[in-house]
Amino acid sequence: MNKIQIAPSILSGDFANLGKAVRDIGEWGADLVHCDVMDGVFVKNLTFGMPMIAALKKVSTLPLDVHLMIVEPERYIDEFVRAGADMLSFHPNASKDPLAALQKIRALGAKAGLVLNPDIPFQPYAAMFKECDFILVMSVYAGLGGQKFIEASLEKVREIRTYLKENNIDIPIEIDGGINEITAACAREAGATILVAGSAVFKAADPALTIKSLRG
Ligand code: DX5
Ligand code: ZN
Repeated sequence: MNKIQIAPSILSGDFANLGKAVRDIGEWGADLVHCDVMDGVFVKNLTFGMPMIAALKKVSTLPLDVHLMIVEPERYIDEFVRAGADMLSFHPNASKDPLAALQKIRALGAKAGLVLNPDIPFQPYAAMFKECDFILVMSVYAGLGGQKFIEASLEKVREIRTYLKENNIDIPIEIDGGINEITAACAREAGATILVAGSAVFKAADPALTIKSLRG
């Protein structure tokens, strides 16, 4: 069985002190730092961009998992990888050429991922999975922290896991949105091995303990 990795999202951290949020995530025993980049166009909200990633990279002991919620992500791949994104994922329906974008991320030395919102089926993109280092299944609609987990995403994780197995593609499935101690167990059961959690970790009385229990 794959090792479970926990990626707390700094979206739920204190924006006046994101450096501390990143250091805390390391000290709490997580595996990755999930960074949500929103452009106010692909999603309604705006968060931060490359300069923030570069600044956080300097203080992080963990790899940065950068989730782009921006239109035409290909415009910024170079800069995000240079800023320190170790994993870089984007929504293929926001891209003019998702295959080229994946290849570019890999060529620059980062791990490339496709992100699928709840209403985006994986089948049209399945042929590109060979060019991915991970697949990110959204279990809420991208754009906001603290939303309720969408149960149907578990079936999507199972279907993708089956597809990957049948095609001998050995990459992890990441899940993002509404993950707490209960939904995490369902997500692990369905075959997700990287779990993003924003509010569940940052609002916990004991974040280190919560991270342990999300791991199962
Ligand atoms: C939503 C983001 C998530 C968000 C998850 O657009 O992609 O990463 O931070 O937050 P929770 O865990 O609170 O649903
Ligand atoms: Zn995210």
